[in-house]
Amino acid sequence: MTESVAPPPGTVLCKPDALDDPGAKGFTFGHGADRFDMFLVRKDGAVHAYLNECPHAHARLDNWPDKFLTLDETRIVCGVHAALFEIESGLCTSGPCTGRRLTPVAVEVIDGEVRIAASQPATNRP
Ligand code: FES
Repeated sequence: MTESVAPPPGTVLCKPDALDDPGAKGFTFGHGADRFDMFLVRKDGAVHAYLNECPHAHARLDNWPDKFLTLDETRIVCGVHAALFEIESGLCTSGPCTGRRLTPVAVEVIDGEVRIAASQPATNRP
């Protein structure tokens, strides 16, 4: 489970064009208790960011590096128990955590780079 805080605001993740559209890429910062796992997902030109943590069992979503999407690339899928999530909202629409959401990470595009934003949304953890 990711318990650490996001990297400092302004931390560069990648250029938007480094992501397929649709496509996704994972990022890991820190080690041990300070490890922070997140991913970006791009669809229709928009970039969304979430913690790499399923709200069902708090496992990583990707069984394989950067494999966050269904085969038809229309939804995010958890590789553990196959929960499905909307790309745009992180809402789980099918699986053991239906109705719950992935935890968003605030990012912004500045000077052609996706960066960690200054303010982070509140988490939905219990
Ligand atoms: S850990 Fe993701 S669906 Fe169970």
